[in-house]
Amino acid sequence: MSTKSPNNLPRIVVLVSGGGSNLQAIIDGVERGQIPATIAAVISNRADAGGLVRAQHHNIPAEHLDHRQFSDRADFDRALIQQIDKHSPDLVVLAGFMRILSEEFTEHYLGKMLNIHPSLLPKYKGLNTHQRALDNGDKIHGASVHFVTAELDGGPIVIQGKVLIEPEDNKNSLAEKVLQQEHRIYPLAIAWFVAGRLKMTHGKCELDGNPYP
Ligand code: GAR
Repeated sequence: MSTKSPNNLPRIVVLVSGGGSNLQAIIDGVERGQIPATIAAVISNRADAGGLVRAQHHNIPAEHLDHRQFSDRADFDRALIQQIDKHSPDLVVLAGFMRILSEEFTEHYLGKMLNIHPSLLPKYKGLNTHQRALDNGDKIHGASVHFVTAELDGGPIVIQGKVLIEPEDNKNSLAEKVLQQEHRIYPLAIAWFVAGRLKMTHGKCELDGNPYP
């Protein structure tokens, strides 16, 4: 899948659907040298995604592929694969990409695609995670970075960031706290991957050659 950039750094393609604060944390990580990689492109399924504007501000190719122009998920995912692969990525990063992915898509990038999810997986897969944590009376909540597999939000977990739920928290305050953790753990996980330290082997994470327990 990959050819190195002219500067010989690994290539990342980031997929976004929304505001792109995680994308910004990744851009910042690249620019300050924490992530030894090039962001080859940012692609969104939504033309109005704030993440595309953030990419443009940093002279990163920003592209749009509207899922509504495809008759079904499989067709869209195939077109998206073609668009991503034009950039020869070493890693595909889902940063608030709000699409369920077909198995064909997840298989194509198996071991080379990370996602961030706003809960302490395996708790609260899917949507509305902050409200669900509040409704359950949880005291601790957070975010998880994981490799993407065919199971929705079910791939091996790379790293988690935790926050305390205070009595005065609501879903918005909680979302803000969790995002702060996201902006810390996602650049870290990406840095590990592009440095060759993080791998998915036999469905498990491995860091510096040590399989996770
Ligand atoms: C983040 O909280 C991310 O964890 C979540 O969307 C938000 C995107 O924020 N992702 C999912 O819920 C994926 N299932 P951002 O656009 O500011 O990075």
